[in-house]
Amino acid sequence: MDIIFITGVSTGIGYAALKQLQDKYLIIGTVRKQEDAKELKKAFGDKVEILVLDVTDQATTKKQIESIFPLLERHGLHCLINNAGIAVPGPLEYLSESDFAHQMDVNVLAVRRVTNLLLPYLGTDSKYKAGKIINISSVSGLFNAPFNGSYCISKHALESMTDVYRRELYRFGIQVSAIEPGPIKTEIWRKNLGQLDKFLDTPYGDVLASADKMIANSDKHAMPVKVITDIIEKILHSPKPKTRYLVHKKPFMFRLLAHYLPDRFVDRMVNKTLAKKENYRPV
Ligand SMILES: NC(=O)c1ccc[n+]([C@@H]2O[C@H](COP(=O)([O-])OP(=O)(O)OC[C@H]3O[C@@H](n4cnc5c(N)ncnc54)[C@H](OP(=O)(O)O)[C@@H]3O)[C@@H](O)[C@H]2O)c1
Repeated sequence: MDIIFITGVSTGIGYAALKQLQDKYLIIGTVRKQEDAKELKKAFGDKVEILVLDVTDQATTKKQIESIFPLLERHGLHCLINNAGIAVPGPLEYLSESDFAHQMDVNVLAVRRVTNLLLPYLGTDSKYKAGKIINISSVSGLFNAPFNGSYCISKHALESMTDVYRRELYRFGIQVSAIEPGPIKTEIWRKNLGQLDKFLDTPYGDVLASADKMIANSDKHAMPVKVITDIIEKILHSPKPKTRYLVHKKPFMFRLLAHYLPDRFVDRMVNKTLAKKENYRPV
């Protein structure tokens, strides 16, 4: 029996991945709330094991993950999907120290925390077959958007972490890939509606006043979550997955913007779009 470990399966990409894969694999998923664990057990029964943990709580994360070691000792771990993530928006100048640190903890530090606990079963211990790691990164790991800075910084760090792990784990044959989605129809951005209001009386207030409208507007153009879960399945089936998968409606335009156009040209373009206050969304 092949086991897949997914962080953050209560909603969005994590939930959709669990749902799509639970027929073919045993899924170990993490949630933060006991009610979510109950719902998932009710819906999927023995096909899923649910651990209740907040990835920023080091002691509980360790204890909960250690509780499934006996299972992993029997089967190893086929794939770890580092999916749990949050977006903490706001101008870098005014974002509180604790909000910035929380963003980094969930999206960066916790990925290493969880990965390191599971690495022996992914094959750094020679008793186990080499597995795969999939990090759910973002186009924000490739392009830096204003007022979404802490998220962009966290996803750039995750991109680096993906490369470093891949190069360090090469000797064990463990494959490490990043998926870099543009806007996907999930709850993540809607969770931020109203979050920027606290910055309205800062010098950035004029632009941020229409942030909710911009989020709602660009949400309409978001891609369905299935585009991501299908890539996850493709990686699971591939003997040699790609190192990164950019998922964007206009990949050529995005690559041009992120990698080839001169910085100052992009700075002007981004600020012009912001001034229009309509269809701009950070990723
Ligand atoms: N949706 C997009 O447009 C988009 C684009 C690019 C990348 N991504 C990435 O995709 C991943 C999944 O996001 P999503 O869009 O599916 O959003 P989502 O629906 O909000 O799901 C996020 C998941 O992470 C969990 N989570 C948040 N904080 C946590 C913590 N401290 N400890 C443990 N779990 C925690 C959430 O649990 P709760 O339900 O308890 O909050 C939820 O299960 C994220 O890494 C995100 O950055 C999303």
